[in-house]
Amino acid sequence: EQEKQTYKDRIKQLLIEKDAVLVAHYYTDPEIQALAEETGGCVADSLEMARFGNKHPAKTLIVAGVRFMGETAKVLTPEKTVVMPTLEATCSLDLGCPIEEFNKFCDQHPERTVVVYANTSTAVKARADWIVTSSCALEIVDYLDAKGEKILWGPDKHLGNYIQKQTDADMLMWQGACIVHDEFKTKALSDMKALHPDAAVLVHPESPIDVVDLADKVGSTSQLIKAAQELPNKKFIVATDRGIFYKMQQLCPDKEFFEAPTAGEGATCKSCAHCPWMAMNGLKEIEDALLDPTGKEVFVDMSLRDGALKSLNRMLDFAA
Ligand code: 13P
Ligand code: SF4
Repeated sequence: EQEKQTYKDRIKQLLIEKDAVLVAHYYTDPEIQALAEETGGCVADSLEMARFGNKHPAKTLIVAGVRFMGETAKVLTPEKTVVMPTLEATCSLDLGCPIEEFNKFCDQHPERTVVVYANTSTAVKARADWIVTSSCALEIVDYLDAKGEKILWGPDKHLGNYIQKQTDADMLMWQGACIVHDEFKTKALSDMKALHPDAAVLVHPESPIDVVDLADKVGSTSQLIKAAQELPNKKFIVATDRGIFYKMQQLCPDKEFFEAPTAGEGATCKSCAHCPWMAMNGLKEIEDALLDPTGKEVFVDMSLRDGALKSLNRMLDFAA
């Protein structure tokens, strides 16, 4: 504890000295989220992180999250120095959607509007007509569908299936998945629901569709936190990364939160309700990045920036 406090004190000082602000995602460890809050930074979902970094006057953004979040920040504000505690923090959706293959997929279907999830590289974003995050994906696809557009969707098949089911839009899907949400199990979740009949079930739409079908509320991390506050239930079963419990408990101290089951009895999973890449963002890594950003600074290919910016701005304007 003492050691943690020392790190925190030094980081606070360095943030001031370097004119830097900490922008953290809800899946990072509780101490990182607390530090972002205490130092005037933000803890947010991926859409709000992008907006916050875009508007904040600091010269340097320290993005505690995963690579695509750092790249999005750099595309939006290339004049800022964007640093991450580690550039190794990636995402299975991003990894599973390499640009060469995605380009081929798009080239085979030139008549379709390309809509991609924010969890992708700058190159994939540059190829897209629209970017979406889980907080605005449904509305954007609904809007495009109403205009009669056919959609090529990537990379998250589960989010795509959920949106397709809700909107009935014509969507051709890339078959990517989040390794964390992919592990939530329907049968074990129904059993848990039966044990806690008064609990509301909150589900992030990166989860498989049969898990989403059991939800009382489906939404982005921010939308799930809001639901925890607004629903009258005193108990919640939550199907997303457990990092989110920090904020839920803070805002609803009189409510109880249970992690949704990630495996049946006796089974194991690769990444049970906590993203291994989000977990790479530690206090030491943040201090190191502030002391010497070499090898931790995010750069994006400027020839891709304009394309990625155009589709990102479409999202930001739509969701304003
Ligand atoms: P949101 O915070 O936008 O819901 O996204 C979750 C996510 O995939 C971050 O890893
Ligand atoms: Fe990617 Fe899933 Fe980790 Fe989010 S939780 S960064 S979607 S692997």
